[in-house]
Amino acid sequence: YLAFSAVCTHEGCTVNHTKGSNEFSCPCHGARFDTTTGDATRGPARRALAKYTVTVSGSDIYLA
Ligand code: FES
Repeated sequence: YLAFSAVCTHEGCTVNHTKGSNEFSCPCHGARFDTTTGDATRGPARRALAKYTVTVSGSDIYLA
């Protein structure tokens, strides 16, 4: 499992994910981020989304 912050690294808007897409997109200025790495794939954001470590216990997922 992967967990990323939804806070865009450009100016802090909340990024969205469209089902079937491999990118998160920011509605404010159009930045895109790879859903497997969090890396910025389209500006104006340059830095990756913050990545969190998660643990799985049964059917629950926890931030580590
Ligand atoms: Fe996300 Fe500007 S705040 S692209």
